[in-house]
Amino acid sequence: MHHFHYQGDELCCENIPLRKIAGQVGTPCYVYSCATLKHHFAVFDGAFHGMPHLICYSVKANGNIAILGLFAALGGGADIVSGGELFRARRAGISADRIVYSGVGKTQAEIDYALRENILMFNIESTQELEAISRRAAVLGLKARIALRVNPDVDPKTHPYISTGLKKNKFGIDIEQAIQAYEHARDLKSIEVVGIDCHIGSQLTEISPFIEALERLKLLASRLEQMGIRIQYVDLGGGLGIPYREEEPPHPREYAKAIIERLKDLPFKLILEPGRVIVGNAGLLLTEVLYIKKTPSKEFIIVDAGMNDLVRPSLYGSYHEIEPVLKNQREPRVVDVVGPICESSDFIARDRSLPMMQQGEILAVMSAGAYGFSMASNYNSRNRAAEVLVDGDRFHVIRKRESWEDLIRGETMPEFIKGAAGQ
Ligand code: LLP
Repeated sequence: MHHFHYQGDELCCENIPLRKIAGQVGTPCYVYSCATLKHHFAVFDGAFHGMPHLICYSVKANGNIAILGLFAALGGGADIVSGGELFRARRAGISADRIVYSGVGKTQAEIDYALRENILMFNIESTQELEAISRRAAVLGLKARIALRVNPDVDPKTHPYISTGLKKNKFGIDIEQAIQAYEHARDLKSIEVVGIDCHIGSQLTEISPFIEALERLKLLASRLEQMGIRIQYVDLGGGLGIPYREEEPPHPREYAKAIIERLKDLPFKLILEPGRVIVGNAGLLLTEVLYIKKTPSKEFIIVDAGMNDLVRPSLYGSYHEIEPVLKNQREPRVVDVVGPICESSDFIARDRSLPMMQQGEILAVMSAGAYGFSMASNYNSRNRAAEVLVDGDRFHVIRKRESWEDLIRGETMPEFIKGAAGQ
């Protein structure tokens, strides 16, 4: 359920017509619905109420501090993959004892930062990383709580770029080698083994791969138990999909039920790292039609949002619904909706049937709340878009549009070039 609906011909976010936001804030602009964000979080969290659990929202999906703050207020933690995400999460008020840290390439500076913050646990992805964390914890006189992220070799049946739990992927520690790595971790003085973790992929539309992975984790946990290594936390990662088009992913309640059934008699606290399922359909991207261009073979709608704003269609061939913010009865036609970037892969939709558009009209690119702004770049020296949060009949700019000065912040011209450039 979300709160983007037509009231008459006007597409609204909660009680605000999107045309009003486009008029006041400009385009391109991301718009998020506060009611939808809260609802999605509450449904997901509530679905697990039958067992001890912690929802560590995956910051990479959408890391705006207003959104993180909202989830912090609802009792959420964070799944982070960089020092930058830790900084965001802490600034937004997420307590460190609710933060888990994954990622295959943690640097020493990032490890130190997370150790000093005393996060809940590191999800370790290699034996060298285990050594590095142990060493840094010893140097700092601290103890690191850890889980090993294991690679359960389960096919998540999703896009290959977002599959992570197959043997050929770079993520996690091979489940067969995990026993040895756990034994080693147990013997390290600055390490406290507390958990077991996996994340098999994103945009999953079936429950069975999650369950297969969970069964493998359970087996591993019981083998560890026999070796005297007690697991407190089972972290199943994120990955539950959303409907972009015709997908029919399981409802969070079905997903939760299947998991709880298989964990209910065990003494674990469950950690989940949802991203997309919470924020994906809680946001959209507003963009203005700049030009309409007909060539002998195609009709292009050229809009002011490009692949630098929303890279998913270019990168994964993803489908996003497109709705005019003011409905019209004009004839539909098949068009490509493209951005201003100098790349042929800069498209938002291809061969899409849309009612005939006119210059100046505003379109809403739906389901853009996850991996939209968070993957935006400044390519072609384009300012990153504004972000707006709607709350009932008010809206707040939660990130202002970047300026040209922002674009060159931190750049300098050495003296010898200045002289040559006559400045
Ligand atoms: N935990 C870990 C360790 C992850 O790597 C991810 C996502 C998540 C949790 C959250 O997964 P979610 O619940 O959002 O599926 N850019 C891609 C998605 C990449 C996902 C990367 N990892 C896209 O736009 O589809």
